Amino acid sequence: MLFLNLNLIILILFCSSQDFPAKGHRRSPSDAEFRDLTFRDAKESLHKELEKLIHTADPSQQTHVRKEFDGFEQLFSRFLEETGPSVDWEKIKLLPEGAVQPYNELEVQLTNDQMKTMLNKLVVLKLNGGLGTSMGCTGPKSLICVRNNLTFLDLNVQQIEQLNKRYGTDVPLVLMNSFNTDIDTEKILRKYSQMKIKIHTFNQSRYPRINRESLLPTANSIGGREQEGLSDCWYPPGHGDVYESLYNSGLLQKFIDDGKEFIFVSNIDNLGATVDINILNFMNNPSNGPAPEFIMEVTDKTRADVKGGTLVDYEGKLRLVEIAQVPKDKVDEFKSVSKFKIFNTNNLWMQLKAMKRVVTEKTLRMEIIVNPKTLDNGINVIQLETAVGAAIKNFEGAIGVNVPRRRFLPVKTTSDLLVIMSNLYSLHQGSLAMNPMRSFPSVPLTKLGTSFKKVKDFLHRFASIPDLLDLDHLTVSGDVTFGKGVTLKGTVIIIANHGERIDIPMGAILENKIVSGNLRILDH
Ligand SMILES: *[C@@H]1O[C@H](CO)[C@@H](O)[C@H](O)[C@H]1NC(C)=O
Ligand SMILES: *[C@@H]1O[C@H](CO)[C@@H](O)[C@H](O)[C@H]1NC(C)=O
Repeated sequence: MLFLNLNLIILILFCSSQDFPAKGHRRSPSDAEFRDLTFRDAKESLHKELEKLIHTADPSQQTHVRKEFDGFEQLFSRFLEETGPSVDWEKIKLLPEGAVQPYNELEVQLTNDQMKTMLNKLVVLKLNGGLGTSMGCTGPKSLICVRNNLTFLDLNVQQIEQLNKRYGTDVPLVLMNSFNTDIDTEKILRKYSQMKIKIHTFNQSRYPRINRESLLPTANSIGGREQEGLSDCWYPPGHGDVYESLYNSGLLQKFIDDGKEFIFVSNIDNLGATVDINILNFMNNPSNGPAPEFIMEVTDKTRADVKGGTLVDYEGKLRLVEIAQVPKDKVDEFKSVSKFKIFNTNNLWMQLKAMKRVVTEKTLRMEIIVNPKTLDNGINVIQLETAVGAAIKNFEGAIGVNVPRRRFLPVKTTSDLLVIMSNLYSLHQGSLAMNPMRSFPSVPLTKLGTSFKKVKDFLHRFASIPDLLDLDHLTVSGDVTFGKGVTLKGTVIIIANHGERIDIPMGAILENKIVSGNLRILDH
């Protein structure tokens, strides 16, 4: 739908015959010329508007803003030029032997000294640009409490701090903030100033949203985040921005100068994304051939993650294919667990020098994600985004590692939060470990209804987090509350229809049960 609309716009604006070979409309040299001219027009108009915006910035900020806008202009030109589908389905090949290494083949025995030497070459970067909006929270997502009153940020800091303590190392933690999360994050970071961990932050870019009709920025001044009416005009362009922004911040060069060689990048809400010595060692001492410049951790698909991006062989290189790029009639094939068996966890390892090279040589070609929005004032805008993993094709000797599921524990919804907070996991030095009492390693499938969507409502509806040790599947819908010390086993479905309410009593044990209708427990 999205791509269709855009193609339509481009068709109208540029009379391109490339995507819609209209009847009787033959592409002639003059069409191509016309298109080139209109592209040039669109680019020039945008450039003029951006120059105007730069002049509204504080003089001390102008150089920085100009650098950001250069990145935006590059993205915008590619958006104009690359009109066709970003992947040709016929060219997609299944992965060749060795393109994805099983994790257990990487396991090695290392001495503490060897580990220390490798860890001292590592930088850990967490993507911290997102807000907790989808879970009903106003600030950065990383400040949501996950367990024992600790936030994602606390847990990530603890992990790295403990690692440094244990090995006597100096692994820095880097946070890529966005203009949405930076101020709140900085406030919290002050509490870690006494700890044995160096924390660096930088902002990802702040790009202008563009009007869908005119393709020009909606902003008329740079403004700040607080400035009335302007916050809508800007956006952080997805985590693919990490390459440019880390470079622009000066940190990339600083780490190289400090003797760092590797960077581990992951989402801050993935609590399974801990520093892994085996993968780091593989990056440092590959058993055969040259060191990979890029490692993507992938994991086996289950029915719950058929929409995740997958790795394929494309024109002889590894490529990440996301569902948005797949032609409509191939979506079922894409989702098939038997054909595309793995998906991207977004835990990525890179050589810092290679990261620098792709930025300075401008060889990054991450697929552009076009995200349409309607602003409060009714104006339709688009924002151009990229995803960090899509850069895999621009690195040499890139490889996938098929990791155990425990390295992928994202918290996207309160259903995920329920599982993470429960007795299925225990917390050890900032890392979550699955309870050994669980009889099988899979995580239960949980679906909490909209009454549980906001973290505040979710917490209010559970007097305490139930025992989930033997749970396979939980569905809860409607006005439902749980008393203290409830145990859920097997498959449990609890449905309160509109106007009804169900209170699961204190200490209840529900095993393979469907509960519906009204169930009120009144104080007496
Ligand atoms: C959780 O943290 C808040 C704020 O730091 C504090 O007020 C509260 O007492 C803490 N609760 C627990 C159970 O530790
Ligand atoms: C990052 O963004 C915030 C919010 O716009 C701003 O206050 C802060 O100065 C920025 N930090 C840097 C290093 O530019």
